[in-house]
Amino acid sequence: MSSTVGIPADLNVLAAHVWPAGVQRSPDTGVVSMHGHDVRELAEQFGTPAYVLDEIEFRDRIRSWKSAFDEATNSTASVYYAGKAFLCSAVVRWLAQEGVNLDVCTGGELAVALRAGFDPAAILMHGNNKSQGELTQAVEAGVGLIVLDSFEEIARLAHIAAQAGKVQAVLIRVTVGVEAHTHEYIATAHEDQKFGFSLAGGQALEAIKRVNKLSALSLQGLHSHIGSQIFNTSGFEVAAHRLTQFLVQVRDECSVELPMLDLGGGLGIAYTPDDDPLAPQVIAQQLIGIVAEQCQVSGLAMPRIVVEPGRAIAGPTTMTIYQVGTIKPIDLDGITRTFVSVDGGMSDNIRTALYDAVYTCSLVSRASAAEPMLVRVVGKHCETGDIVVRDAWLPSDLAPGDLIAVAATGAYGRSMASNYNHVPRPPVVAVTPDASRLIVRRESVEDILALDVD
Ligand code: LLP
Repeated sequence: MSSTVGIPADLNVLAAHVWPAGVQRSPDTGVVSMHGHDVRELAEQFGTPAYVLDEIEFRDRIRSWKSAFDEATNSTASVYYAGKAFLCSAVVRWLAQEGVNLDVCTGGELAVALRAGFDPAAILMHGNNKSQGELTQAVEAGVGLIVLDSFEEIARLAHIAAQAGKVQAVLIRVTVGVEAHTHEYIATAHEDQKFGFSLAGGQALEAIKRVNKLSALSLQGLHSHIGSQIFNTSGFEVAAHRLTQFLVQVRDECSVELPMLDLGGGLGIAYTPDDDPLAPQVIAQQLIGIVAEQCQVSGLAMPRIVVEPGRAIAGPTTMTIYQVGTIKPIDLDGITRTFVSVDGGMSDNIRTALYDAVYTCSLVSRASAAEPMLVRVVGKHCETGDIVVRDAWLPSDLAPGDLIAVAATGAYGRSMASNYNHVPRPPVVAVTPDASRLIVRRESVEDILALDVD
């Protein structure tokens, strides 16, 4: 509010590791562009709010995750992009072109992949409550790996596969008891949550014994996912240690050496200039090193390593462009808080409200030499918690009609968008130096009305 803490030296500087790689600010006009496409023209053509995605960076990220793990393992690891971060036909095609696999967690995500012609053998499906229909859809389509999450599901899937006359390759999701240092709602491998079979409680071993008795299921290995927005590999180190110990136990008690170890996703990205995520090359070297060391100590053959990055591929590639509307300074006992309202909000970015997520934003449609003011960027929804950026520095001459952009909205932005207050969900525009094009169109009020069938 009146504080100068964290005041940026120059509002015009866009921290390169927070904004999509193709984003630049013109030194003359102050206008921001992506690969030469002026944000004002993008806003004119596609409307606001809009997710603007750097297609070159998205593909580069897919490629660098693949090459990092290929290099660290002589091409024996597999990268599965976690489609929950953001999925549409264009993304599916980019994955296929770059030779990266796909992780889905619902029949809906699977349907997107199959309609786009993705090889079902390169798909992995997980989820704690896959329906009979979803499992049947997956088995019939020939999905490569299904991650089993409960005893009921073991029996259900074995039945479905037997009926289809198939042997389904599966992984067992193991709860390793690691508290990842992240928000409670996105940490997934401590004991008190809904995913997987507990290692400490003995359910994981029991699950393996049951699967091994079923001829319609072929057990390939273990799956673990310890959380999201993680900035170092220490949690993975504990997880890998427990998992390799468990592989030894499985070898000794069940006489099988499982060939695959899926460590899940969860690597963090930069939402603010202070965030310093690890590069895929570093992550690959560290994760592979940890597992290799544990295997050597335990006398195990190195399993095929699987990773499932979502946010680290999609997140940094996208910014959301909003138009500024009402600007309202509120006097709070002598201190002024300025609320800057934009034409979207919690329906296109729920992460601030849900996880207290922190974002970076900037005026992108013009230059300004005005003093910075500390504002709260809020949406247009009927809810006090409808906050896009809790504390943002923007120029004090900000005016209705200006465009602002929020960086790093590519993961869990569009994919968690809603129709709250019957607000249509924004489009996703993919930008390359040659073109800007819709890859997901804007929802219309007609789309929303069409669902109302009384
Ligand atoms: N694999 C599994 C089994 C997962 O559950 C997840 C994320 C991923 C991979 C991908 O994780 P990533 O690399 O994207 O962190 N909506 C939350 C994140 C929830 C993630 C759930 N599972 C957010 O907006 O932060």
